[in-house]
Order: sequence, then C-alpha cells, then structure tokens
Amino acid sequence: MATILVNGMKREVQASGDTPLLYVLRNDLQLTGPQFGCGLAQCGACSVLLDGKEIRSCTTTLTAVGTKEVTTLEGLPARWAHQKGLPAAESEKTLHPVQQAWIEEQVPLCGFCQNGMMIKATELLERNASPSVADIKTAFSTGVSAHLCRCGSYTAIIAAVQFAAMQMKGAAR
Ligand code: FES
Ligand code: FES
Repeated sequence: MATILVNGMKREVQASGDTPLLYVLRNDLQLTGPQFGCGLAQCGACSVLLDGKEIRSCTTTLTAVGTKEVTTLEGLPARWAHQKGLPAAESEKTLHPVQQAWIEEQVPLCGFCQNGMMIKATELLERNASPSVADIKTAFSTGVSAHLCRCGSYTAIIAAVQFAAMQMKGAAR
C-alpha cells in the first residue's frame, strides 16, 4: 500500500512500488485522462505533471513519485483556481484556460494524444507566459521525447497554446 498526492488530495492505493503511475491513475483511481499509447515514454499520451513538470506516467513508477504532487488532466481546473486564489468550488464550474482553448480552437481530431498535449501546454505556459511559435514547437518536440499526434493536429495545437496564453495573461491583470 502507498499514499500519493494526486490533484490536491492524498490517495491510498494498493499497488506495489514498481507499478507504473499510469496504471495506478487509470485502474486504481479512475483518472482516465492520461492514455496508454506506446508504454515506452515515446508518445506523450500518458503525460501528467509531477511537481509541475511534465513526465511520462507509463514509465514512472509509484516509488519514483514519492511525495511529489501529481496533477492530471482532471486536476487542471483546480490547479488554475488555486493559482488564481479562487475558491475551490470555482474549479467545478470552470475549465483551465488551456482546456478552454482546446475547445475554442477545436484541436482534437481522434483525441487520443490530447491529454499529453494539454499537460505539455500547461507546463509551458506556467514557465513562459508568452511563448513564441518557436518556443511552442521546441516545447512539444524536445524533453523526454516529442509529443506525437497521428492525426496531425499540430497547427491547431500552436493556435490553442497562443489562445490560452492570452487568456491566462488577461486573467493575471
Ligand atoms: S504511453 Fe507514455 S509516452 Fe506513450
Ligand atoms: S488527435 Fe488523434 S492522435 Fe492526436
């Protein structure tokens, strides 16, 4: 048994320490935003934030998570509400600006990769409020490995990141 911090809550799970975090999230905690794509840290479909840094949950063990905080796609609204000092209840009514931007720009095609795309966008915008197109391309194509979309939604992703950046800067005023 282990205790992990997920989306602001301590959760007890029965899984052994060598279990991939992705399995714990999906099977034990019913957090099905993160997807199983390659299982080899090669595609990004399973991405989550670990203390604000994007990681591949398919190859990160429960032991490696330790006491760090996991944020999944489901936890982005509460993360945003917390960052803006909004009441927790607000997160039940509002999406994270990145999620809203994905809707506005109609990014998903089949949708399978989009969990990782939104997690990566959130990580980027938390450290760079005004990323250039080059910054966005670099963020999505470097690191552990590139984020892959078999449907070719890359142009829409760039537009959505720029849209989200404007919304987040507006909210900061
Ligand atoms: S499923 Fe984890 S990177 Fe592909
Ligand atoms: S939207 Fe289909 S894999 Fe990206």
